[in-house]
Amino acid sequence: MRTIMVINAKGGCGKSTLSTNIAAYFATHWEGTVTLADYDPQASSLDWLAKRPPERDRIHGLDAHEEGLRHLDRNTEFLIIDAPARSHGTELTQLVRHAETIVVPVLPSPIDINAASRFIQELLDVGKVERREVKVAAVANRVRENLLIFGELEQFLEKIKVPFIARLRDAQNYIRAYSRGLGVHELPEYLAYPDWEQWEPLVKWLESRRSQP
Ligand SMILES: Nc1ncnc2c1ncn2[C@@H]1O[C@H](COP(=O)(O)OP(=O)(O)O)[C@@H](O)[C@H]1O
Ligand SMILES: [Mg+2]
Repeated sequence: MRTIMVINAKGGCGKSTLSTNIAAYFATHWEGTVTLADYDPQASSLDWLAKRPPERDRIHGLDAHEEGLRHLDRNTEFLIIDAPARSHGTELTQLVRHAETIVVPVLPSPIDINAASRFIQELLDVGKVERREVKVAAVANRVRENLLIFGELEQFLEKIKVPFIARLRDAQNYIRAYSRGLGVHELPEYLAYPDWEQWEPLVKWLESRRSQP
């Protein structure tokens, strides 16, 4: 089973957006059962799933906030975990136990970049990450221009050897896809092509050995 967790201590950075889009990507591009486990009490991923049209590739939902992974479908090949905000300390350690790949979305503001650097540092102090039993990458989300603002984060990530894997633009497509229970890969090509291109390095990484311990 491939286990991919989207996490950042900060709310609103795109955890649910990335989780739902990653789940939709694997559901449409791969054979095999996809499960989306939502650890966030806000349950945005499960709300999205409830809107998913029945004729689309099936994604199983799991209310992990209530019941953890106990009722995880045994056939799951791709497990995508939407983690809650404010995960620190033992809670963070517990969550990381489930993951082999961690994606950290970061918004392009100084406050978010500082918070993300601290969070990634905290993540690296978790034993499992320290021992490289889990792979971590950062994704810039809601980027409006090719901002220099990520320079410092880039330097920091380079120093700690965490790849800065993709930059996703701020686009109405994400809102549109979310409200219809779809991923951007399921929107028409003429609308979503720029987003598909931006997702390419992220999905390539997720599909490769590089994102697996
Ligand atoms: N790339 C994007 N472009 C446009 N809106 C986005 C993008 N990523 C996230 N959003 C919007 O930002 C808000 C917060 O995103 P969300 O995924 O819910 O964050 P989190 O789960 O980390 O709290 C949502 O309204 C979402 O639709
Ligand atoms: Mg969320």
